[in-house]
Amino acid sequence: MTQLAIKGGPRVVPEEKILPWPWITDEDKQAVMAALEHGSPWRYPFEEITALEQEWAAFTGTKHCLAVNSGTASLHLCVAAAGVGPGDEVLVPAFTFLASASCVLHSNGIPIFVDIEPNTCTIDPARIEERITDQTKAIVAVDIHGLPCDYDEIHAIADRHGLYVIEDGAQAHGSVYKGRPVGALGHMAGCSLNGSKNLSALGEGGLFTTDDDHRAELAARVRMFGEVVRPGEPRRYNAYMMGWNYRTDPLQAAFTRSQLRRLPEMMAAKQRNCEHLTARIRELPGILVQEVPPDRTHTYFFYVFRCQPYKDGLDIPVWAYRDTLSECLTAEGCPARRWQHYTIPEQSLFQFLDGYGKGCPWSCPYTRPGIRYDGAEYPEAKRLLEEFLCIGHSTGGLGPPNGLDLMDLYADSFEKVLVEHRDEFLALAREKAVQAAR
Ligand SMILES: Cc1ncc(COP(=O)(O)O)c(C=O)c1O
Repeated sequence: MTQLAIKGGPRVVPEEKILPWPWITDEDKQAVMAALEHGSPWRYPFEEITALEQEWAAFTGTKHCLAVNSGTASLHLCVAAAGVGPGDEVLVPAFTFLASASCVLHSNGIPIFVDIEPNTCTIDPARIEERITDQTKAIVAVDIHGLPCDYDEIHAIADRHGLYVIEDGAQAHGSVYKGRPVGALGHMAGCSLNGSKNLSALGEGGLFTTDDDHRAELAARVRMFGEVVRPGEPRRYNAYMMGWNYRTDPLQAAFTRSQLRRLPEMMAAKQRNCEHLTARIRELPGILVQEVPPDRTHTYFFYVFRCQPYKDGLDIPVWAYRDTLSECLTAEGCPARRWQHYTIPEQSLFQFLDGYGKGCPWSCPYTRPGIRYDGAEYPEAKRLLEEFLCIGHSTGGLGPPNGLDLMDLYADSFEKVLVEHRDEFLALAREKAVQAAR
């Protein structure tokens, strides 16, 4: 039997085996070169940008799309177009990426956190209503890791209380809930095009979508300095409201358009890869894989699994088991790592309650007094953070051009660590716990 790689043995996954994301083809390069040749003079909005907006609207089946320069900007357009202002509260899952909550602060709104449902890791509809107050305006539903939320339940609650549903689809382009695509699952949606995402720009970008004509008009103002700018009409340089410069550029749009043509095929290949990995590692000891509910698809921006030594009666602390497994798998060439380290309400920004200085926006007279954030109110989010490891789709080669052969090597790595070298692995985890206690 070979030695664990962490102890100097040969690694399972050869170096350089993981091919990088985004998967850039000759067509992508030609699309960018063509846009570069058309590129001057400056004439916003560029044809490439308008075409991307039309194509993403068609792909998602929505009426309006606005391309912007980040996913955070696209979410801020949703929040601002929903009319969120000083003191208005917006419900956000306690486990997500910061931008799902900071987009609320950008409009002086107040994020109020909701615990997650443990299997999907998305906002738990059963915990939403207890957080609604007279000041609640919207719910941010985050399709975390690539898996859509329970939208039927979320919309039913939103309808009862007159709230907007804002979909954060930053990690889930190409996923589908009950036949409807990500980008069309809220009243408004924001998606990121950051280079690591399922659908990406060359660097940064984002896409806002909605069916609502009025909200689309407001979002367009927010995107461009608060001005009303209509194609074919002269610009008047008059700001009607607070606005930002969230415009993107034609090179990003050209690249994204080219990638969008292959998105369904690329996501299908990624799903095949990840389902194959799940089938191979599902029964291994001490871990729990994520099961995909039958009413939706998963596009695996992260391949997530939990570390649960207690399932096998082991008394090793979860964190020591998790970190040792991460180190052993990574040494074998399977990059299974932690992602978020804190729930969002536990991040310093929310503990210090100071966004803009002078305690703003929590000190604002419109804000409900006494709002404080306590991580203990979100036990499922905290348990997830303690237990989970993930393989990232861009750093871990989950998608094409990587295929089942890489997934087999990943599964072999899990087997090598968790089964073939089980005693050594458990000894390393115990040793880590002992060291920490010293
Ligand atoms: C869930 C989620 N929401 C929002 C964002 C923000 O997107 P961007 O980085 O493009 O601003 C991200 C980015 O990683 C994300 O993962």
